[in-house]
Amino acid sequence: MKFFLDTPDLNKIKEAIEYGVIDGITTNPSLIAKEGLIGEDNIYKRYMDICNLVDGPVSAEVISTNYKGMIEEGEKLASLHKNIVVKIPVIKDGIKAIKYLSAKGIKTNCTLIFTPGQALLAAKAGASYVSPFVGRLDDISQDGTKLVGQIVNMFSYYNFSTQVIAASLRSTLHIAKCIELGVHIATIPLETILALLNHPLTQAGLKQFLDDYHKVNN
Ligand code: G3P
Repeated sequence: MKFFLDTPDLNKIKEAIEYGVIDGITTNPSLIAKEGLIGEDNIYKRYMDICNLVDGPVSAEVISTNYKGMIEEGEKLASLHKNIVVKIPVIKDGIKAIKYLSAKGIKTNCTLIFTPGQALLAAKAGASYVSPFVGRLDDISQDGTKLVGQIVNMFSYYNFSTQVIAASLRSTLHIAKCIELGVHIATIPLETILALLNHPLTQAGLKQFLDDYHKVNN
């Protein structure tokens, strides 16, 4: 399973690269705003900076919600760097924009997916990726990882090349479940990736090894 880092924060990205486990980046307008990035020039510069750091797909989301705006933005974003993936919401004009952009060879990530039907429409329109949101379904007492499993199976038995990016992952349990389901990609904050390292037996075992060693090596 590939790991994408779900952030436009360059320090977090640099740190993640040092661990060697990052295959790409996803962002969304909320994360861009949280990072304090204001205005198209600054935002596009950040996408370029990210592309220059990470050798993998970088999802940059459109702000427009109409077809014309989305394809214009999408083409502009795609022209920034070969690794840009244009992220588009799963709405009517978004599906049309995915069809247009994918026909031009531009990679797309269809976002805000909450049902298998939405994922199917995105895949049929030619989306390179779909992003089902796990945590936000859990938030309303629905099983987010169940949706991810349904989409992975659907793409497999209908032979779609569209890949699933499990998004809105909030815990190591979500990640473990994604591994079981054969999810292609999980996009996660750095803190959650690092939390995979935590195990009390690892800590206790390491302490014991070093205590034993130092008992005889002063
Ligand atoms: O990639 C989408 C993700 O960032 C949303 O996560 O935690 O805001 O639901 P969250």
